[in-house]
Amino acid sequence: MSLALNAINLKKTYDGIPVVNGISFEIKPGECVGILGPNGAGKTTTIKMIYGQVVPSAGELLVLGLNTKNDIAQIRSRIGVVPQEDCLDTDFSALENLLLFGRYHNMDRDLAEAQAEHLLAEMKLSDFKHKRVEALSGGMKRRLAIARALIHKPQFILMDEPTTGLDPQARLWIWNYFERLKSNNTTLVLTTHYMEEAERLCDRIIMIDHGVILDHGTAKELIERHVGLEVIELEVGKEKGYWINKVEQAGLRYQEYEENLFIFFKTAESKQGFISHIQNTHYYVRAANLNDVFLKLAGYQIREKS
Ligand SMILES: Nc1ncnc2c1ncn2[C@@H]1O[C@H](COP(=O)(O)OP(=O)(O)OP(=O)(O)O)[C@@H](O)[C@H]1O
Ligand SMILES: [Mg+2]
Repeated sequence: MSLALNAINLKKTYDGIPVVNGISFEIKPGECVGILGPNGAGKTTTIKMIYGQVVPSAGELLVLGLNTKNDIAQIRSRIGVVPQEDCLDTDFSALENLLLFGRYHNMDRDLAEAQAEHLLAEMKLSDFKHKRVEALSGGMKRRLAIARALIHKPQFILMDEPTTGLDPQARLWIWNYFERLKSNNTTLVLTTHYMEEAERLCDRIIMIDHGVILDHGTAKELIERHVGLEVIELEVGKEKGYWINKVEQAGLRYQEYEENLFIFFKTAESKQGFISHIQNTHYYVRAANLNDVFLKLAGYQIREKS
């Protein structure tokens, strides 16, 4: 089976400065892949190269077997895109925005109307379909941008922070909807700053910063590799140096976070041993998660040093 996406040594420079600096990755049909990284890491630039908004400075990019250099019109007709900025036509109504996109994709009018009504219902926008986009709330515009990307029923969807600005409830049912797309074998590539979203939806995660891939794998693999099983958050305040010494002597891995140390444990036994030393200090035990991986790999301390 051919790949849904193949990026080979992809680069983008602006004024001689690389913002995407030689990244290579593959995405299989039906996979849901999350591209994660801090602000300015190069996520949007990467996504824009995939849908032809930004021309790579070097490298090869094949989408659905087609080369972005020669076949961008054909690629665009087959993929759905939720850009980071909504880019909706604010003078038109929600419904008209969807139908406009249907025309752009040469859809039959009846089919476009049926699909628009279906998507408006899915995005809980049916009651607002005749409202001008200008009059919609931020979260509603975001949901309309998702609907617009899906109007032509693409099998490959690129979404740049699709749920940013959505309330927690809306995020939950949008995740449900994305899960339905996944079970329908749709390929999803998304960026997000919500680690919970990535953990829940993504089969694989690519962590990037400064335009390079820091690591990739399933959320579980990344958590096990970089953090472990459990984390103790220890409030150390001004005694950080003392505690870092102690943790290092115990051969444990950790991450500094403001007035806290996050101490990583591979096993429950190693955690129990450490707890016996910290009875007089305020601490909190929790499961390791993708946030820890993010802080470890792309935390601000690392960025400041580089
Ligand atoms: N058109 C441009 N001209 C010059 N520099 C640009 C341009 N577009 C992006 N950049 C720079 O490239 C870098 C990566 O930007 P990009 O938008 O890809 O980051 P991002 O990972 O999507 O960040 P965020 O999480 O904030 O959306 C940033 O330093 C940004 O300032
Ligand atoms: Mg971005």
